[in-house]
Amino acid sequence: MLLKTLFRSKPTKEHCAMVLFGRNCSEFVRPPPIRTSTRQQTTQTPDTDQLQHLQNELSNPKFSYLHCHVPEIVEVCQRDMLVHENFISEEEEEILFKEVEPKLKRILRYEFDHWDDAIHGYREIERSDWSEQSQPILQRLRRLAFPPGVAQLHLVHVLDLAKEGWIKPHVDSVKFAGNTIAGLSLLSPSVMRLVHSDNKAWVADVLLKPRSLYIMRDAMRYDYTHEILKAEESKFRGEEVPRNRRVSVICRNEPPVPTTD
Ligand code: OGA
Ligand code: MN
Repeated sequence: MLLKTLFRSKPTKEHCAMVLFGRNCSEFVRPPPIRTSTRQQTTQTPDTDQLQHLQNELSNPKFSYLHCHVPEIVEVCQRDMLVHENFISEEEEEILFKEVEPKLKRILRYEFDHWDDAIHGYREIERSDWSEQSQPILQRLRRLAFPPGVAQLHLVHVLDLAKEGWIKPHVDSVKFAGNTIAGLSLLSPSVMRLVHSDNKAWVADVLLKPRSLYIMRDAMRYDYTHEILKAEESKFRGEEVPRNRRVSVICRNEPPVPTTD
């Protein structure tokens, strides 16, 4: 089965339009609520205390990857969208890239034509048998992202985004992946935008530097769309983030087993 079918739910006209036009994406992409916020779904003008708090939170170097003006969502971003910069060394980046590059190259062309794909300008593979050099890197990633005992998808997804490519807002299919998505970025920096599916004013931008690992889970994974901005829009905290070819190595866990009651 094609990965785009696996990971980005139904690649149909209808679905894509729903995602792109910001309508509720139907139960297909909405799981049973896990830790759904009970807070009100509007964004009011924050008071001075809230703004001061927001300022303090975001000036914390631990969250230098996060850009968000919305006090209501800072907490959920900090809890459910974690970024570990320099998670791998340059040598490890090269090991992974050298391993996947020949396989990616076999797909001669980047996919640009399908207007209803969630991704524009990409090619992708999935891999289960990794070299001895790569295995410890992926094990480290899995150990950090998934608690012991969590059933993980065996196949690792490798997505190669062309310099001119971008990922449109979407929620990964809940049928084929669980509550956590962990992605390593190789080669180029990029900006990932998170937007609440029901409240488009709740937006956060995340800077993904090469060699960083993001762990997106729970509310961020289910209640927010994620996207990778195209070159013309690739800015973080007002500064341009020059886009180039970017390869991501993504691990996911199994979806929960459906209950039959
Ligand atoms: C995806 C996706 C993000 C990334 O493949 O569904 O959102 O980091 N990828 O490449
Ligand atoms: Mn995705």
